[in-house]
Amino acid sequence: MISEGARDGAPGATSMRTHLCGQLEDGDVGRFIRLCGWVSRRREHGEHLAFVDLRDHTGTIQCVVDGSVDARSEYVVAVTGTLRRRPEGMENPNLATGGWEVGDCEIEVLATAEPPPFAVEDRVDVDEATRLRYRYIDLRRPRMQANLRLRAVVNAALRAAMDRMGFCEVETPLLWSPTPEGAREFAVPSRLHPGAFYVLPQSPQLAKQLLMVSGMDRYYQIARCLRDEDLRADRQFEFTQLDMEASFVNQDDVLGFVSESVLDAAEAATGERPPPIARMTWAEALERYGTDKPDLRFAMELVDLGEVFATTEVRAFAAPQGARRHAVKALVVEGGASFARSRLDGLVETAKAEGAKGLAWFKVTEGDGVVGLDSPLDRFLSETERTGLLAASGAVVGDLVLVVSDEHRLACTVLGRMRVALGGRPVGEGPYRYVWVVEFPMFDGVDSAGHPVPAHHPFTMPHPDDLDLLETDPAAVRSQAYDLVLNGWELGSGSVRVHRADIQGRIFAALGISAEQAEARFGFLLDAFRYGAPPHAGFAFGIDRLAAIFSGADTIREVIAFPKTQSGADPLTGAPKALSANALADLGIKTTVPAPER
Ligand code: AMO
Repeated sequence: MISEGARDGAPGATSMRTHLCGQLEDGDVGRFIRLCGWVSRRREHGEHLAFVDLRDHTGTIQCVVDGSVDARSEYVVAVTGTLRRRPEGMENPNLATGGWEVGDCEIEVLATAEPPPFAVEDRVDVDEATRLRYRYIDLRRPRMQANLRLRAVVNAALRAAMDRMGFCEVETPLLWSPTPEGAREFAVPSRLHPGAFYVLPQSPQLAKQLLMVSGMDRYYQIARCLRDEDLRADRQFEFTQLDMEASFVNQDDVLGFVSESVLDAAEAATGERPPPIARMTWAEALERYGTDKPDLRFAMELVDLGEVFATTEVRAFAAPQGARRHAVKALVVEGGASFARSRLDGLVETAKAEGAKGLAWFKVTEGDGVVGLDSPLDRFLSETERTGLLAASGAVVGDLVLVVSDEHRLACTVLGRMRVALGGRPVGEGPYRYVWVVEFPMFDGVDSAGHPVPAHHPFTMPHPDDLDLLETDPAAVRSQAYDLVLNGWELGSGSVRVHRADIQGRIFAALGISAEQAEARFGFLLDAFRYGAPPHAGFAFGIDRLAAIFSGADTIREVIAFPKTQSGADPLTGAPKALSANALADLGIKTTVPAPER
């Protein structure tokens, strides 16, 4: 142990160390110091000396130790010695501390270590199952350390922004009742009420609306949410939202709050404040980018060929009789004329797998100074259509034009996915392009019983101009729901809520939810609304997604300390696991299947 006096204000100093490896300064040269950390590397230097690189969470420093010292890779040690400049020519310019070393070291081994399953270095490629099995070692790697610390910076900036804007942090229950986000829910058996279950919240949605009825006015929470859905790069069972709700506000107010918090977090994480976030309607996003999550880092906008083929004889491009909304949409792939036939066939198959009737392609070619089209369909086109296609798409020699003629939304989405597949890049690659997508439709298709499905959730307020379409044309109703999108990922969603019982009743009716069903599922919220509900609106965005993008990662697993694998398992703890017969009996549960061996 070192004396109190040795602490002398250096950052990170404690009773066990005087300095941090990565925060040594030239002014420390000549000082007697004590550092603690892990042995990251050891090299023998002649018979009597060894170089030990000591690593803590701030960096590494070379220590010159007696060759007889038994301090191997990943041993936890305390090193005492004098900081000195390395001999000329021995500096390591790649290391922030590469100009110095600790000389005349004494090493105290605080804990021995078995050889790690993989080297604690960023450059080493390790399969994810092994990384997650030994996550505590994986997290020692500088990149993972940086990711978790960046996430903490994001959290701190978000909290500061919310506090500044007058939001009050309130924690809401994890043992809860079904919420309306639409994913499958995790259930927790109740020991005290055998046969009954709590549900883990998909979000604090209903709790925060209750808080508005309580007069909290502005609520926020860095909230854990749980959804039993298929895991992907941007999805985990457990994730974290910055969740917020405010009373006596409209959509613009909420967009303002969210923008400020996100831009603050961006500035804190990247050092640069992005410009104000532009808005785009959902209809425009679909039309131009074929998605409600447009990646604005690249152009490749969809082109409408409806006019070019308005009176076409080409059957594939003509609107079928009675079609509700037919479209001929195109995507230009720069340089795509070089695609081999097999690649084009692959694109056609992809389009079909996504539900399109087909995909037409046209290579823009040049022969004898004349620009033409190379395509199995070319001979069916009239000359006006040929020039029209080139003019409308703006394609030039060497390009490829992909065309889908189908129901409008389908044509757009199929090409939207191709746009990302052919032109996109990893989500975490800069620049960061944010966009607000507003005026989402109220409903998104129909369920198996033919009832419309809420695009957001059933407490979303319809657009005031479309209220009267609720009964007559639900598919055309726009809502006051909005999303924030960053680099093609949905960061978050929110809406103005319904606070009036009459409108809520009409929405439930449109959804085919009877008064009794509504009472059974959300009765407690509807009850609360009878006691004076203020107009309110809110939003939630995924902190995992935001932190992943700022870290340059392409999956949120890189910014989560202990994530699950793709199959929902935790290789570190072995969860999920079978429970003992006694534990099950306590909960009043009988399983009908044995737990799988893993
Ligand atoms: P929503 O369901 O759109 O809205 O979720 C908001 C944001 O949470 C993040 N998210 C996820 N992140 C990681 N893994 C998941 N499985 C996952 N699911 C969602 C996304 C998403 O945009 N209560 C409403 C918000 C509101 O209306 O106020 C809600 O939860 O970034």
